[in-house]
Amino acid sequence: MYITSTGKIRNNLYMLGHSGYPMFLVDAPKPALFEAGACFTGKMYVEDINSTLPGRPPSFLFLTHAHWDHCGAVAHLKEAFPTLQVAASSMAADILRRPNALALIRKLNDDARTYMDSFPGIDTSLFIDETFQPFEVDIELEDSSVIDLGNGTTVEILATPGHTRDHHSFYLPREKVMIAGEAAGLLLNTGEVTTEFLFDYDAYLLSLQKLAQLPIEVFCQGHNLVIIGEEKIKTFLERSIQETIDFKDRALELLDEEDGSVEQVIQRVKAERYDPIQGLKQPVVPYMINLTAKINHLAARKNQPSGAVT
Ligand SMILES: [Fe+2]
Repeated sequence: MYITSTGKIRNNLYMLGHSGYPMFLVDAPKPALFEAGACFTGKMYVEDINSTLPGRPPSFLFLTHAHWDHCGAVAHLKEAFPTLQVAASSMAADILRRPNALALIRKLNDDARTYMDSFPGIDTSLFIDETFQPFEVDIELEDSSVIDLGNGTTVEILATPGHTRDHHSFYLPREKVMIAGEAAGLLLNTGEVTTEFLFDYDAYLLSLQKLAQLPIEVFCQGHNLVIIGEEKIKTFLERSIQETIDFKDRALELLDEEDGSVEQVIQRVKAERYDPIQGLKQPVVPYMINLTAKINHLAARKNQPSGAVT
């Protein structure tokens, strides 16, 4: 089963805000939020938190990574809930102190807000025109640490690098819930699976394999939908591993055909994989930033003397 709309997912787990930029809420004695989407969906999160937890402010906000569409609304949330503790990896905390990273996060949020208006059929009535504001990370998370939310609900912190260097996923062992951001790529509403290794192909595959070893009944990915059921999740993770390998193989083939021209390969991959997608898709600017990172990484990896390319 796939859940594509906001509301209760099961037991103490909810999807809030907007399924394209979802926030997840775990209701426990210390309620926890996961992911903080885009700036323009900030008000939607606050309204959903207030209606799901009337009179009870959330205790924690866990961030998977410091990309524009996963931390956009943090400042808005901290203003609404001043006692909220923001938890992220120490690498994410470092990134979020860098002026150039903050400028890029701000620009991509502003661009995406404009892009949303250009798509007929998208209900933008609840979106806000707020620009990105920097914020402090209150708790720096370490791999394998555990945060107790009370009443038997715990959050295990899993370093899952590969999409980015700072990427962490969050596992609730009692509920068998995984909140994986983009560590495992994305299952799209069209049924396709995308691969999202921007930082390191090999680390990304290892992270995927790490996730695939855990019993998971609810898989909350960073965009679009939630996957329910151990078999469906297992199939998705296997497809994600295969798509990662296939993408790498095709990119290496194109690098050979184009005599190593990264620019030519980027254009060919875009023509093969992005241009044919109909309807709402990732805005072209972040898509190209991500694709450029992937092809540059594979080209550099290909040229390593160790023969690491497999
Ligand atoms: Fe990301």
